[in-house]
Amino acid sequence: MRLTETADVWWKNAVVYCLDIETFFDTDGDGRGDIRGLSQRIDHLAELGVTCLWLMPFYPTPDRDDGYDITDFYGVDPRLGTHGDLVELITLAKDRGIRVIADLVVNHTSNQHPWFQSARSSRESPYRDWYVWRDEEPPGGDKGVVFPDQEDSIWQYDEEAGQYYLHMFYKHQPDLDIANPQVREEIIRVIGFWLQLGLSGFRVDAVPFLLDTAGALDAEYLPDPHDYLRDLRAFLTRRSGQAVLLGEVNLPYKDTRQFFGDEDGDELTMCFDFIGMQKLYLSLARSDPAALVKSLRERPDPPEEAQWGTFVRNHDELTLDKLTEEEKQEVFAAFGPEKDMQLYGRGLRRRLPPMLGNDQARLKMVYSLLFSLPGTPVLFYGEEIGMGENLAAEGRNAVRTPMQWTAELNGGFSSADPDQLAAPVVEGELSPEQVNVAAQRHDPDSLLNWIKLLILRYRETPELSWGTCTILEHESPSVLAHRTDYEGGSVIALHNFAAEPAGVTLAVSGTGVGTRVTDLLTGQTTDVENDGTLRHEVGPHGCCWLRVVKPGDRYIL
Ligand code: NOJ
Repeated sequence: MRLTETADVWWKNAVVYCLDIETFFDTDGDGRGDIRGLSQRIDHLAELGVTCLWLMPFYPTPDRDDGYDITDFYGVDPRLGTHGDLVELITLAKDRGIRVIADLVVNHTSNQHPWFQSARSSRESPYRDWYVWRDEEPPGGDKGVVFPDQEDSIWQYDEEAGQYYLHMFYKHQPDLDIANPQVREEIIRVIGFWLQLGLSGFRVDAVPFLLDTAGALDAEYLPDPHDYLRDLRAFLTRRSGQAVLLGEVNLPYKDTRQFFGDEDGDELTMCFDFIGMQKLYLSLARSDPAALVKSLRERPDPPEEAQWGTFVRNHDELTLDKLTEEEKQEVFAAFGPEKDMQLYGRGLRRRLPPMLGNDQARLKMVYSLLFSLPGTPVLFYGEEIGMGENLAAEGRNAVRTPMQWTAELNGGFSSADPDQLAAPVVEGELSPEQVNVAAQRHDPDSLLNWIKLLILRYRETPELSWGTCTILEHESPSVLAHRTDYEGGSVIALHNFAAEPAGVTLAVSGTGVGTRVTDLLTGQTTDVENDGTLRHEVGPHGCCWLRVVKPGDRYIL
């Protein structure tokens, strides 16, 4: 295919990297990462091959939900830096070919936000109607509580206001009323502000809750919630044609597709594939790709210029909420049998490497899958070196520990006293002494170098993201074989979920005499038989990306 096509629609084969500035790199020694620190480390991301940096919330916050509780949508948390530092970062990232997006968290504010403080103080406040109030507690408030360890209702009585307010998340996060035109206008202004400072779009927090399709309010509340999302997207694109909305939508596939704007593709540019992620863990637990294959078959194609955001881990609990109870228990038993590893009865507060016993071959196979299956891969910081979790940290913070740069004090993250760190470092087998960027840079077999290779090959093989994906039939149940085709280019990827080697016999269609396949990851070549049959071996937890090469094709292989 022509590579030039991939520049305008850049998000379709981007490499997104999510990080929290607070835990990335501390330059002023206060124990908290800062924007200047992130700038200093931009070349780590550039060298890795990241093309889009997603910044978790950096706004002023009382920090009761890791920054997702915001007191000023236009501000920068002074502990992290200034607007000036942020613009410098965006400029620097651009120089390295990296776009920057940020979390847009407008379902709610912190209860310390001046809007809420004013709203609760009087019914006459100009901000009263910016939130959702009721005189009586509506029935069924216990349904749909997101954080059941802390909350038992989505309604909270406020003494000062003399009414109940809606909060889909914690009670210190009152929901904004997006049926109110003033709130809508303000959200538009917030988007416009950050685009003007150079952002290339947003990761939109909790989209179904924002549109209240989660069903907390009655149907008259927003007769067509998707109208609002269409307005946001239209505004975004008017202001910046290259900007994207990457939405957090954890719903069944048929519902998620609506958030792309169905066929029209005029709502979210990308949606995370939560279902595929959950089925991946089920397949890993069973050493059998069948569950993942089923979800790949069920997953609707996104509209032409939209894309799925695929991921292995994110900053939240590894939610298993779309699996059946039995399936969830299977994953718990395999990857998080202890109560302390589980969260909210639906997820795990662990990172992938400890769940897989730090088995490097298996880890490498999982990331090979991530970069070869259709979708745009989204990495969570530290995945590239195989960081673990710290279960001593509370709740979801277990996976939000400082980035491990070196084997030195605090993993080279900060020169502060370890007691002063914004988050505790990982201890034990996956501590910075064992797992860090510096050591892996010089180790050709490291996970870091493997992921760099995957990214290089993924970027020069846009068929993987743009192409039509077909699951190939063969005789080895432990191997997932998929093929992507786009404008004359074809790649077949094999992934073995089992610890035993496996052989596959595949029918490679559209080939003729003299066709061969070359593994893009090793350069190893295998001939396809004249009748189109390909026999291939895959090692224990092995993987390969086979470019189909016909006589006369011109690839660097
Ligand atoms: C979703 C975010 O991913 C999560 O971290 C946060 O707690 C909730 N939204 C509430 O903002």
